[in-house]
Amino acid sequence: MIHQFETVIIGSGGAGLYAALEASKNSNTAVLSKLYPIRSHTGAAQGGISAALGNVEEDKPEWHAFDTVKGGDYLVDQKAASILAEEAIQAVYDLENRGLPFNRTPEGRIDQRRFGGHTRNFGEGPVRRACYAADRTGHMILQTLYQQCIKNEVSFFDEFQVVDLILEGTKCSGVVVVELATGKLHIFSAKAVLFATGGFGRMFKITSNAYANSGDGPAVCARRGIPLEDMEFFQFHPTGIKGLGILISEAVRGEGGILRNRDGERFMEEYSPTLLDLAPRDIVARSMLTEVRNGMGIRGDRQIDDYLHLDATHLGKDTLMKKLPDISEFCKTYLGIDPADDPIPVLPTAHYAMGGIPTDEHGRVILDNKGTIVDGLYAAGECACVSVHGANRLGTNSLLDLVVFGRRAGKHIAQYAKGADGVKVDESAADEARQWIEQITDGSEGPHGGHITDEMQTTMMEKVGIYRNEKEMQEAVDEIQDLRNRYRDVRVQDTSSTFNTDLLEIIELGNLLDLSLLTAASALDRKESRGAHSREDYPERDDDNFLKHSLAYLEEDTVRLDYKDVDTSIWEPKPRTY
Ligand code: FUM
Repeated sequence: MIHQFETVIIGSGGAGLYAALEASKNSNTAVLSKLYPIRSHTGAAQGGISAALGNVEEDKPEWHAFDTVKGGDYLVDQKAASILAEEAIQAVYDLENRGLPFNRTPEGRIDQRRFGGHTRNFGEGPVRRACYAADRTGHMILQTLYQQCIKNEVSFFDEFQVVDLILEGTKCSGVVVVELATGKLHIFSAKAVLFATGGFGRMFKITSNAYANSGDGPAVCARRGIPLEDMEFFQFHPTGIKGLGILISEAVRGEGGILRNRDGERFMEEYSPTLLDLAPRDIVARSMLTEVRNGMGIRGDRQIDDYLHLDATHLGKDTLMKKLPDISEFCKTYLGIDPADDPIPVLPTAHYAMGGIPTDEHGRVILDNKGTIVDGLYAAGECACVSVHGANRLGTNSLLDLVVFGRRAGKHIAQYAKGADGVKVDESAADEARQWIEQITDGSEGPHGGHITDEMQTTMMEKVGIYRNEKEMQEAVDEIQDLRNRYRDVRVQDTSSTFNTDLLEIIELGNLLDLSLLTAASALDRKESRGAHSREDYPERDDDNFLKHSLAYLEEDTVRLDYKDVDTSIWEPKPRTY
Protein backbone atom coordinates (compact mmCIF):
# COMPACT_ATOMS: atom_id res chain seq x y z
CA MET A 1 0.00 0.00 0.00
CA ILE A 2 1.35 3.46 -0.91
CA HIS A 3 0.51 6.51 1.19
CA GLN A 4 1.19 9.99 -0.12
CA PHE A 5 2.14 12.86 2.22
CA GLU A 6 4.14 16.02 1.76
CA THR A 7 6.03 15.40 5.00
CA VAL A 8 6.70 12.11 6.77
CA ILE A 9 8.32 12.08 10.20
CA ILE A 10 9.61 8.86 11.72
CA GLY A 11 9.62 8.99 15.50
CA SER A 12 7.27 10.68 17.90
CA GLY A 13 9.57 11.90 20.67
CA GLY A 14 10.21 15.57 21.31
CA ALA A 15 12.12 16.21 18.06
CA GLY A 16 9.60 14.42 15.85
CA LEU A 17 6.61 16.07 17.46
CA TYR A 18 8.11 19.56 17.40
CA ALA A 19 9.05 19.12 13.74
CA ALA A 20 5.53 17.85 13.02
CA LEU A 21 4.01 20.84 14.75
CA GLU A 22 5.93 23.24 12.50
CA ALA A 23 5.80 21.22 9.26
CA SER A 24 2.04 20.70 9.59
CA LYS A 25 1.44 24.45 9.46
CA ASN A 26 2.33 24.36 5.77
CA SER A 27 2.38 20.73 4.62
CA ASN A 28 0.31 17.58 4.83
CA THR A 29 2.21 15.76 7.62
CA ALA A 30 2.29 12.19 8.94
CA VAL A 31 4.13 10.93 12.02
CA LEU A 32 5.04 7.24 12.06
CA SER A 33 6.09 5.64 15.31
CA LYS A 34 6.79 2.08 16.34
CA LEU A 35 5.30 3.02 19.71
CA TYR A 36 2.24 4.81 20.92
CA PRO A 37 3.65 8.41 20.76
CA ILE A 38 3.58 9.31 24.42
CA ARG A 39 5.61 6.19 25.21
CA SER A 40 8.58 7.67 23.32
CA HIS A 41 11.87 7.81 25.22
CA THR A 42 11.77 11.61 25.57
CA GLY A 43 9.32 10.76 28.35
CA ALA A 44 12.17 9.24 30.35
CA ALA A 45 14.25 12.46 30.43
CA GLN A 46 14.03 13.55 34.00
CA GLY A 47 15.97 16.51 35.27
CA GLY A 48 15.38 19.52 33.02
CA ILE A 49 15.85 21.58 29.88
CA SER A 50 18.53 24.24 29.93
CA ALA A 51 17.98 27.90 28.99
CA ALA A 52 19.77 30.99 30.25
CA LEU A 53 16.56 32.62 31.48
CA GLY A 54 18.36 34.12 34.46
CA ASN A 55 15.24 33.66 36.60
CA VAL A 56 17.06 32.86 39.83
CA GLU A 57 20.56 34.22 39.19
CA GLU A 58 22.38 36.06 36.41
CA ASP A 59 22.90 34.01 33.26
CA LYS A 60 23.64 34.57 29.56
CA PRO A 61 23.24 32.51 26.37
CA GLU A 62 26.92 33.15 25.65
CA TRP A 63 27.91 31.43 28.90
CA HIS A 64 25.61 28.54 28.01
CA ALA A 65 27.12 28.19 24.52
CA PHE A 66 30.65 28.28 25.93
CA ASP A 67 29.83 25.60 28.55
CA THR A 68 28.39 23.43 25.77
CA VAL A 69 31.55 23.78 23.68
CA LYS A 70 33.89 23.16 26.61
CA GLY A 71 31.72 20.33 27.96
CA GLY A 72 31.96 18.69 24.51
CA ASP A 73 35.76 18.87 24.71
CA TYR A 74 35.87 21.34 21.78
CA LEU A 75 34.47 18.88 19.24
CA VAL A 76 31.26 20.96 19.18
CA ASP A 77 30.42 23.04 16.10
CA GLN A 78 30.42 26.44 17.74
CA LYS A 79 27.85 28.31 15.64
CA ALA A 80 25.41 25.45 16.16
CA ALA A 81 26.05 25.66 19.93
CA SER A 82 25.34 29.40 19.85
CA ILE A 83 22.04 28.78 18.05
CA LEU A 84 21.19 26.17 20.68
CA ALA A 85 21.85 28.54 23.57
CA GLU A 86 20.24 31.61 21.99
CA GLU A 87 17.08 29.87 20.80
CA ALA A 88 16.74 28.03 24.11
CA ILE A 89 15.05 30.96 25.76
CA GLN A 90 12.22 31.31 23.26
CA ALA A 91 11.88 27.53 23.05
CA VAL A 92 11.26 27.25 26.79
CA TYR A 93 8.76 30.12 26.80
CA ASP A 94 6.97 28.54 23.83
CA LEU A 95 6.65 25.30 25.78
CA GLU A 96 5.35 27.26 28.76
CA ASN A 97 2.80 29.03 26.55
CA ARG A 98 1.69 25.70 25.16
CA GLY A 99 0.87 24.54 28.66
CA LEU A 100 3.96 22.81 30.06
CA PRO A 101 3.65 22.80 33.88
CA PHE A 102 7.16 23.93 34.95
CA ASN A 103 8.04 24.17 38.64
CA ARG A 104 7.85 27.80 39.78
CA THR A 105 9.80 30.22 41.95
CA PRO A 106 7.84 31.88 44.80
CA GLU A 107 7.35 34.86 42.41
CA GLY A 108 5.75 32.60 39.80
CA ARG A 109 8.65 32.45 37.34
CA ILE A 110 9.94 29.18 35.85
CA ASP A 111 12.24 27.74 38.52
CA GLN A 112 15.80 26.70 37.59
CA ARG A 113 18.32 24.34 39.13
CA ARG A 114 21.94 23.35 38.73
CA PHE A 115 23.17 20.67 36.36
CA GLY A 116 26.62 19.30 35.48
CA GLY A 117 28.98 21.53 33.50
CA HIS A 118 26.62 24.54 33.41
CA THR A 119 28.48 27.51 34.85
CA ARG A 120 28.37 31.25 35.35
CA ASN A 121 30.85 33.54 33.63
CA PHE A 122 32.80 30.94 31.64
CA GLY A 123 33.43 28.44 34.40
CA GLU A 124 33.52 30.38 37.70
CA GLY A 125 31.06 28.03 39.42
CA PRO A 126 27.73 26.24 38.92
CA VAL A 127 24.75 28.24 37.66
CA ARG A 128 21.03 27.47 37.92
CA ARG A 129 20.11 27.03 34.25
CA ALA A 130 17.90 23.91 34.09
CA CYS A 131 14.16 24.60 33.82
CA TYR A 132 12.24 21.63 35.15
CA ALA A 133 8.92 19.98 35.88
CA ALA A 134 9.86 17.99 38.98
CA ASP A 135 11.86 15.02 37.60
CA ARG A 136 9.38 14.46 34.77
CA THR A 137 10.48 17.21 32.38
CA GLY A 138 10.67 15.02 29.27
CA HIS A 139 7.34 13.42 30.07
CA MET A 140 5.72 16.85 30.27
CA ILE A 141 7.33 18.00 26.99
CA LEU A 142 6.00 14.92 25.26
CA GLN A 143 2.46 15.39 26.57
CA THR A 144 2.47 19.09 25.68
CA LEU A 145 3.68 18.56 22.11
CA TYR A 146 1.44 15.57 21.45
CA GLN A 147 -1.65 17.55 22.44
CA GLN A 148 -0.60 20.37 20.11
CA CYS A 149 -0.03 17.96 17.20
CA ILE A 150 -3.48 16.46 17.70
CA LYS A 151 -4.89 19.99 17.68
CA ASN A 152 -3.06 20.67 14.37
CA GLU A 153 -4.53 17.47 12.88
CA VAL A 154 -1.20 15.77 12.23
CA SER A 155 -1.87 12.20 10.97
CA PHE A 156 -0.43 9.60 13.35
CA PHE A 157 0.45 6.06 12.28
CA ASP A 158 1.18 4.32 15.58
CA GLU A 159 3.07 1.03 15.77
CA PHE A 160 4.68 1.24 12.32
CA GLN A 161 8.33 0.14 12.17
CA VAL A 162 10.65 1.70 9.57
CA VAL A 163 12.75 -0.79 7.57
CA ASP A 164 14.06 1.10 4.55
CA LEU A 165 14.68 4.52 3.08
CA ILE A 166 13.83 5.31 -0.54
CA LEU A 167 16.69 7.25 -2.09
CA GLU A 168 17.38 8.03 -5.72
CA GLY A 169 20.88 9.44 -5.97
CA THR A 170 20.89 12.31 -3.51
CA LYS A 171 17.11 12.71 -3.40
CA CYS A 172 14.90 11.11 -0.79
CA SER A 173 11.35 10.16 -1.73
CA GLY A 174 9.96 8.13 1.15
CA VAL A 175 10.29 5.20 3.52
CA VAL A 176 9.23 1.56 3.73
CA VAL A 177 7.62 0.46 7.00
CA VAL A 178 6.04 -2.61 8.58
CA GLU A 179 2.64 -2.22 10.22
CA LEU A 180 3.08 -4.18 13.43
CA ALA A 181 -0.62 -4.99 13.85
CA THR A 182 -0.81 -6.83 10.52
CA GLY A 183 2.76 -7.48 9.37
CA LYS A 184 1.96 -5.67 6.09
CA LEU A 185 4.54 -3.53 4.31
CA HIS A 186 3.60 0.08 3.54
CA ILE A 187 5.34 2.72 1.48
CA PHE A 188 5.10 6.32 2.62
CA SER A 189 5.99 8.57 -0.25
CA ALA A 190 6.89 12.14 0.67
CA LYS A 191 8.67 15.26 -0.48
CA ALA A 192 10.37 15.53 2.92
CA VAL A 193 11.29 12.72 5.32
CA LEU A 194 12.59 13.46 8.82
CA PHE A 195 14.17 10.87 11.10
CA ALA A 196 13.69 11.49 14.80
CA THR A 197 14.05 7.94 16.07
CA GLY A 198 16.12 8.69 19.19
CA GLY A 199 19.13 6.88 20.57
CA PHE A 200 20.62 3.40 20.49
CA GLY A 201 21.78 2.68 24.03
CA ARG A 202 20.44 -0.85 23.72
CA MET A 203 23.74 -1.84 22.11
CA PHE A 204 25.11 -1.88 25.70
CA LYS A 205 24.32 -4.31 28.51
CA ILE A 206 23.65 -1.71 31.18
CA THR A 207 21.71 1.26 29.89
CA SER A 208 19.16 3.87 30.89
CA ASN A 209 17.58 3.51 27.43
CA ALA A 210 14.20 1.98 26.70
CA TYR A 211 13.96 -1.32 24.81
CA ALA A 212 12.78 0.67 21.80
CA ASN A 213 16.07 2.58 21.51
CA SER A 214 17.59 0.57 18.70
CA GLY A 215 18.77 3.35 16.38
CA ASP A 216 16.36 2.52 13.56
CA GLY A 217 16.81 5.84 11.71
CA PRO A 218 20.63 5.94 11.71
CA ALA A 219 20.87 2.24 10.79
CA VAL A 220 18.46 2.56 7.86
CA CYS A 221 20.37 5.62 6.63
CA ALA A 222 23.77 3.93 7.05
CA ARG A 223 22.65 0.98 4.93
CA ARG A 224 21.70 3.42 2.18
CA GLY A 225 25.14 5.05 2.04
CA ILE A 226 24.71 7.95 4.46
CA PRO A 227 27.66 8.29 6.84
CA LEU A 228 27.20 8.49 10.60
CA GLU A 229 29.11 11.22 12.41
CA ASP A 230 31.12 10.94 15.64
CA MET A 231 29.82 7.49 16.51
CA GLU A 232 32.76 6.84 18.85
CA PHE A 233 31.30 9.25 21.41
CA PHE A 234 28.77 7.49 23.64
CA GLN A 235 27.91 8.98 26.99
CA PHE A 236 27.73 7.03 30.24
CA HIS A 237 25.50 8.80 32.75
CA PRO A 238 27.16 8.58 36.18
CA THR A 239 24.11 7.59 38.17
CA GLY A 240 22.28 4.53 36.99
CA ILE A 241 20.78 2.20 39.58
CA LYS A 242 23.44 -0.42 40.29
CA GLY A 243 22.98 -3.53 38.15
CA LEU A 244 19.88 -2.21 36.38
CA GLY A 245 21.04 1.01 34.73
CA ILE A 246 17.75 2.82 35.39
CA LEU A 247 18.39 6.55 35.43
CA ILE A 248 18.68 8.43 38.69
CA SER A 249 18.57 12.02 37.51
CA GLU A 250 21.58 14.32 37.73
CA ALA A 251 19.02 16.65 39.27
CA VAL A 252 19.67 14.79 42.54
CA ARG A 253 23.18 16.27 42.48
CA GLY A 254 21.76 19.52 41.10
CA GLU A 255 19.67 19.76 44.25
CA GLY A 256 22.70 19.03 46.45
CA GLY A 257 23.12 15.23 46.39
CA ILE A 258 26.70 13.99 46.91
CA LEU A 259 28.62 11.01 45.52
CA ARG A 260 30.49 9.10 48.23
CA ASN A 261 32.92 6.17 48.32
CA ARG A 262 33.19 3.34 50.87
CA ASP A 263 34.76 5.68 53.43
CA GLY A 264 31.92 8.18 53.00
CA GLU A 265 34.31 10.61 51.27
CA ARG A 266 33.06 13.14 48.73
CA PHE A 267 35.57 11.83 46.20
CA MET A 268 34.72 14.39 43.48
CA GLU A 269 36.68 16.96 45.55
CA GLU A 270 39.78 15.26 44.24
CA TYR A 271 38.77 15.06 40.57
CA SER A 272 36.92 18.35 40.05
CA PRO A 273 37.73 20.92 42.76
CA THR A 274 35.49 23.67 41.28
CA LEU A 275 32.37 21.85 40.09
CA LEU A 276 32.63 18.77 42.35
CA ASP A 277 29.68 16.42 41.76
CA LEU A 278 28.44 18.73 39.01
CA ALA A 279 31.40 18.27 36.69
CA PRO A 280 30.48 17.09 33.16
CA ARG A 281 29.33 13.49 32.97
CA ASP A 282 32.39 12.04 31.24
CA ILE A 283 34.56 13.28 34.10
CA VAL A 284 32.24 12.07 36.86
CA ALA A 285 31.76 8.64 35.24
CA ARG A 286 35.54 8.15 34.89
CA SER A 287 36.12 9.31 38.47
CA MET A 288 33.63 6.74 39.73
CA LEU A 289 35.31 3.97 37.80
CA THR A 290 38.70 5.09 39.12
CA GLU A 291 37.36 4.88 42.68
CA VAL A 292 36.10 1.36 42.01
CA ARG A 293 39.42 0.32 40.45
CA ASN A 294 41.29 1.72 43.47
CA GLY A 295 39.23 -0.41 45.82
CA MET A 296 37.16 2.54 47.05
CA GLY A 297 33.82 1.21 45.78
CA ILE A 298 31.28 0.27 48.43
CA ARG A 299 32.26 -3.41 48.43
CA GLY A 300 35.91 -2.53 47.89
CA ASP A 301 36.68 -5.62 45.76
CA ARG A 302 37.81 -3.62 42.66
CA GLN A 303 35.35 -5.60 40.51
CA ILE A 304 33.77 -3.85 37.52
CA ASP A 305 30.29 -4.13 39.07
CA ASP A 306 31.27 -2.55 42.39
CA TYR A 307 29.36 0.67 43.00
CA LEU A 308 29.28 4.06 44.75
CA HIS A 309 26.71 5.85 46.88
CA LEU A 310 24.64 8.83 45.84
CA ASP A 311 23.71 10.48 49.10
CA ALA A 312 20.49 12.52 49.06
CA THR A 313 19.53 11.90 52.69
CA HIS A 314 20.31 15.48 53.72
CA LEU A 315 17.88 16.94 51.14
CA GLY A 316 14.90 16.05 53.28
CA LYS A 317 11.61 14.36 52.45
CA ASP A 318 9.92 17.61 51.42
CA THR A 319 12.47 18.49 48.67
CA LEU A 320 12.54 14.91 47.45
CA MET A 321 8.76 14.84 47.22
CA LYS A 322 8.41 18.21 45.48
CA LYS A 323 11.41 18.11 43.16
CA LEU A 324 12.40 14.46 42.75
CA PRO A 325 9.26 12.37 43.20
CA ASP A 326 9.87 9.88 40.37
CA ILE A 327 13.38 8.91 41.39
CA SER A 328 12.15 8.50 44.98
CA GLU A 329 9.58 6.03 43.68
CA PHE A 330 12.16 4.23 41.51
CA CYS A 331 14.35 3.72 44.58
CA LYS A 332 11.44 2.27 46.51
CA THR A 333 10.32 0.03 43.62
CA TYR A 334 13.66 -1.26 42.38
CA LEU A 335 15.85 -1.08 45.47
CA GLY A 336 13.43 -1.18 48.37
CA ILE A 337 14.97 1.96 49.88
CA ASP A 338 13.78 5.50 50.55
CA PRO A 339 16.44 8.03 49.38
CA ALA A 340 15.41 10.24 52.28
CA ASP A 341 16.78 7.58 54.63
CA ASP A 342 19.44 5.66 52.69
CA PRO A 343 22.09 6.45 50.04
CA ILE A 344 21.33 5.20 46.53
CA PRO A 345 23.69 2.53 45.09
CA VAL A 346 24.76 3.79 41.66
CA LEU A 347 27.07 3.00 38.73
CA PRO A 348 27.50 4.65 35.31
CA THR A 349 24.94 3.55 32.72
CA ALA A 350 25.03 3.87 28.90
CA HIS A 351 22.84 6.86 28.28
CA TYR A 352 23.28 8.98 25.18
CA ALA A 353 24.72 8.91 21.65
CA MET A 354 26.51 12.13 20.82
CA GLY A 355 26.91 10.91 17.23
CA GLY A 356 24.36 10.14 14.57
CA ILE A 357 23.06 11.23 11.17
CA PRO A 358 25.04 14.34 10.11
CA THR A 359 22.90 17.42 9.57
CA ASP A 360 23.22 21.14 9.04
CA GLU A 361 21.53 23.72 11.30
CA HIS A 362 18.19 23.21 9.52
CA GLY A 363 18.20 19.46 10.06
CA ARG A 364 19.12 18.71 6.42
CA VAL A 365 21.11 15.49 6.13
CA ILE A 366 24.69 15.82 4.88
CA LEU A 367 26.33 13.16 2.77
CA ASP A 368 30.02 13.94 2.98
CA ASN A 369 32.74 16.29 4.22
CA LYS A 370 31.98 18.72 1.38
CA GLY A 371 28.55 19.37 2.85
CA THR A 372 26.52 17.74 0.03
CA ILE A 373 22.85 17.83 1.06
CA VAL A 374 20.48 14.89 0.57
CA ASP A 375 17.45 16.55 -0.95
CA GLY A 376 14.31 16.09 1.13
CA LEU A 377 16.00 14.15 3.96
CA TYR A 378 16.14 15.57 7.50
CA ALA A 379 17.08 14.34 10.97
CA ALA A 380 16.74 15.83 14.45
CA GLY A 381 17.16 14.89 18.10
CA GLU A 382 19.39 12.15 19.45
CA CYS A 383 19.52 10.22 16.16
CA ALA A 384 21.07 13.29 14.50
CA CYS A 385 24.45 14.99 14.88
CA VAL A 386 24.34 18.74 14.20
CA SER A 387 26.88 18.82 16.20
CA VAL A 388 26.09 20.56 19.48
CA HIS A 389 27.32 17.89 21.88
CA GLY A 390 30.73 17.11 20.43
CA ALA A 391 32.56 14.53 22.49
CA ASN A 392 30.35 14.83 25.60
CA ARG A 393 26.87 16.26 26.08
CA LEU A 394 25.93 18.40 29.05
CA GLY A 395 22.87 17.28 31.01
CA THR A 396 19.63 19.08 29.97
CA ASN A 397 21.07 19.98 26.55
CA SER A 398 19.39 16.92 25.08
CA LEU A 399 15.81 18.06 25.63
CA LEU A 400 16.94 21.45 24.40
CA ASP A 401 18.53 20.00 21.26
CA LEU A 402 15.39 18.18 20.25
CA VAL A 403 13.14 21.17 20.87
CA VAL A 404 15.40 23.75 19.13
CA PHE A 405 16.53 21.61 16.19
CA GLY A 406 13.23 19.71 15.86
CA ARG A 407 11.56 23.06 15.49
CA ARG A 408 14.15 24.41 13.03
CA ALA A 409 13.87 21.28 10.89
CA GLY A 410 10.05 21.50 10.93
CA LYS A 411 10.18 25.15 9.84
CA HIS A 412 12.60 24.36 7.00
CA ILE A 413 10.48 21.42 5.86
CA ALA A 414 7.36 23.60 5.82
CA GLN A 415 9.02 25.80 3.19
CA TYR A 416 10.82 23.02 1.32
CA ALA A 417 7.80 20.72 0.98
CA LYS A 418 5.71 23.46 -0.63
CA GLY A 419 8.34 24.24 -3.26
CA ALA A 420 9.70 20.75 -4.01
CA ASP A 421 8.50 18.63 -6.91
CA GLY A 422 6.26 15.66 -6.17
CA VAL A 423 7.98 12.29 -6.41
CA LYS A 424 6.55 9.19 -7.98
CA VAL A 425 7.20 6.01 -6.03
CA ASP A 426 5.87 2.59 -7.00
CA GLU A 427 5.49 -0.71 -5.15
CA SER A 428 8.89 -1.92 -6.32
CA ALA A 429 10.45 0.48 -3.80
CA ALA A 430 9.56 -2.09 -1.13
CA ASP A 431 10.99 -5.11 -3.00
CA GLU A 432 14.25 -5.39 -1.05
CA ALA A 433 12.52 -5.06 2.30
CA ARG A 434 9.83 -7.55 1.25
CA GLN A 435 12.37 -10.17 0.17
CA TRP A 436 14.31 -9.82 3.39
CA ILE A 437 11.23 -10.11 5.60
CA GLU A 438 10.02 -13.14 3.63
CA GLN A 439 13.39 -14.75 4.20
CA ILE A 440 13.50 -14.22 7.98
CA THR A 441 9.89 -15.39 8.37
CA ASP A 442 10.15 -18.45 6.09
CA GLY A 443 9.82 -20.83 9.05
CA SER A 444 13.23 -22.49 8.61
CA GLU A 445 15.69 -23.11 11.43
CA GLY A 446 18.25 -20.46 12.33
CA PRO A 447 20.22 -19.08 15.27
CA HIS A 448 18.27 -17.39 18.06
CA GLY A 449 18.39 -13.60 17.90
CA GLY A 450 18.31 -13.32 21.71
CA HIS A 451 21.73 -14.96 22.08
CA ILE A 452 23.23 -12.58 19.54
CA THR A 453 21.73 -9.60 21.36
CA ASP A 454 23.22 -10.78 24.61
CA GLU A 455 26.70 -11.24 23.15
CA MET A 456 26.59 -7.88 21.35
CA GLN A 457 25.63 -6.03 24.53
CA THR A 458 28.33 -7.76 26.58
CA THR A 459 31.01 -7.04 23.97
CA MET A 460 30.08 -3.38 23.69
CA MET A 461 29.87 -2.92 27.45
CA GLU A 462 33.20 -4.60 28.20
CA LYS A 463 35.25 -3.48 25.20
CA VAL A 464 33.81 -0.18 23.97
CA GLY A 465 32.70 1.23 27.34
CA ILE A 466 34.06 4.05 29.51
CA TYR A 467 37.74 3.10 29.27
CA ARG A 468 38.97 1.76 25.95
CA ASN A 469 42.14 0.38 24.38
CA GLU A 470 43.33 -0.83 20.97
CA LYS A 471 43.31 -4.55 21.74
CA GLU A 472 39.81 -4.70 23.18
CA MET A 473 38.28 -2.45 20.54
CA GLN A 474 39.81 -4.57 17.78
CA GLU A 475 38.34 -7.64 19.50
CA ALA A 476 34.98 -5.85 19.63
CA VAL A 477 35.08 -5.10 15.89
CA ASP A 478 35.87 -8.76 15.14
CA GLU A 479 33.23 -10.09 17.50
CA ILE A 480 30.54 -7.77 16.15
CA GLN A 481 31.45 -8.81 12.59
CA ASP A 482 31.09 -12.42 13.63
CA LEU A 483 27.69 -11.67 15.18
CA ARG A 484 26.61 -9.87 11.98
CA ASN A 485 27.52 -13.02 10.02
CA ARG A 486 25.48 -15.19 12.37
CA TYR A 487 22.62 -12.69 12.19
CA ARG A 488 22.28 -13.34 8.44
CA ASP A 489 20.85 -16.80 9.23
CA VAL A 490 18.52 -15.69 12.02
CA ARG A 491 14.87 -16.64 11.58
CA VAL A 492 11.83 -15.61 13.61
CA GLN A 493 10.42 -18.42 15.74
CA ASP A 494 6.93 -16.95 15.55
CA THR A 495 5.86 -16.69 11.90
CA SER A 496 2.42 -15.18 12.52
CA SER A 497 1.70 -11.74 11.13
CA THR A 498 -0.27 -10.14 13.98
CA PHE A 499 1.81 -8.01 16.37
CA ASN A 500 4.87 -10.13 15.72
CA THR A 501 7.27 -8.83 18.36
CA ASP A 502 9.74 -11.56 17.43
CA LEU A 503 10.06 -9.97 13.98
CA LEU A 504 10.32 -6.48 15.51
CA GLU A 505 13.17 -7.60 17.80
CA ILE A 506 15.08 -9.10 14.90
CA ILE A 507 14.74 -5.92 12.87
CA GLU A 508 15.97 -3.93 15.87
CA LEU A 509 18.88 -6.32 16.47
CA GLY A 510 20.08 -5.86 12.88
CA ASN A 511 20.08 -2.11 13.41
CA LEU A 512 21.98 -2.35 16.69
CA LEU A 513 24.60 -4.66 15.19
CA ASP A 514 25.31 -2.23 12.34
CA LEU A 515 25.54 0.69 14.77
CA SER A 516 27.77 -1.29 17.14
CA LEU A 517 30.16 -1.97 14.27
CA LEU A 518 30.24 1.69 13.26
CA THR A 519 30.78 2.74 16.89
CA ALA A 520 33.60 0.28 17.54
CA ALA A 521 35.35 1.00 14.23
CA SER A 522 35.14 4.78 14.70
CA ALA A 523 36.48 4.42 18.26
CA LEU A 524 39.36 2.23 17.13
CA ASP A 525 40.47 4.84 14.60
CA ARG A 526 40.45 7.78 17.02
CA LYS A 527 43.84 7.51 18.70
CA GLU A 528 43.37 10.09 21.41
CA SER A 529 41.19 10.70 24.50
CA ARG A 530 38.48 13.33 24.18
CA GLY A 531 35.25 13.68 26.15
CA ALA A 532 33.49 10.36 26.51
CA HIS A 533 36.10 8.59 24.34
CA SER A 534 38.76 7.70 26.87
CA ARG A 535 41.67 5.57 25.69
CA GLU A 536 44.10 4.03 28.15
CA ASP A 537 46.67 3.72 25.35
CA TYR A 538 46.27 7.36 24.20
CA PRO A 539 45.35 9.24 27.40
CA GLU A 540 45.77 12.79 25.99
CA ARG A 541 43.61 14.89 23.73
CA ASP A 542 45.40 15.35 20.40
CA ASP A 543 44.13 18.48 18.64
CA ASP A 544 46.87 18.32 16.02
CA ASN A 545 45.60 15.05 14.61
CA PHE A 546 42.06 14.58 15.92
CA LEU A 547 40.27 17.90 16.21
CA LYS A 548 37.91 16.60 13.53
CA HIS A 549 34.54 14.90 13.22
CA SER A 550 34.50 11.31 12.03
CA LEU A 551 32.19 10.18 9.22
CA ALA A 552 31.72 6.41 9.18
CA TYR A 553 30.34 4.79 6.02
CA LEU A 554 28.96 1.25 6.21
CA GLU A 555 30.06 -0.46 3.02
CA GLU A 556 28.73 -4.02 3.18
CA ASP A 557 31.06 -5.65 5.68
CA THR A 558 33.55 -2.87 6.04
CA VAL A 559 33.54 0.55 7.63
CA ARG A 560 35.16 3.37 5.66
CA LEU A 561 36.19 6.34 7.76
CA ASP A 562 36.45 9.89 6.60
CA TYR A 563 36.75 13.10 8.61
CA LYS A 564 35.49 16.68 8.47
CA ASP A 565 36.44 19.95 10.12
CA VAL A 566 35.07 21.20 13.43
CA ASP A 567 33.73 24.76 13.54
CA THR A 568 35.98 26.45 16.11
CA SER A 569 35.21 29.97 14.88
CA ILE A 570 34.31 31.47 18.29
CA TRP A 571 36.45 29.92 21.02
CA GLU A 572 39.94 28.54 20.61
CA PRO A 573 40.24 24.98 21.95
CA LYS A 574 41.87 24.90 25.40
CA PRO A 575 42.63 22.13 27.88
CA ARG A 576 39.54 21.39 30.01
CA THR A 577 39.75 22.01 33.72
CA TYR A 578 36.83 22.09 36.13
O1 FUM B 1 19.99 13.21 34.67
C1 FUM B 1 19.05 13.53 33.97
O2 FUM B 1 18.01 13.99 34.43
C2 FUM B 1 19.23 13.40 32.53
C3 FUM B 1 19.17 14.46 31.77
C4 FUM B 1 19.79 14.46 30.45
O3 FUM B 1 20.32 13.44 30.00
O4 FUM B 1 19.83 15.54 29.84
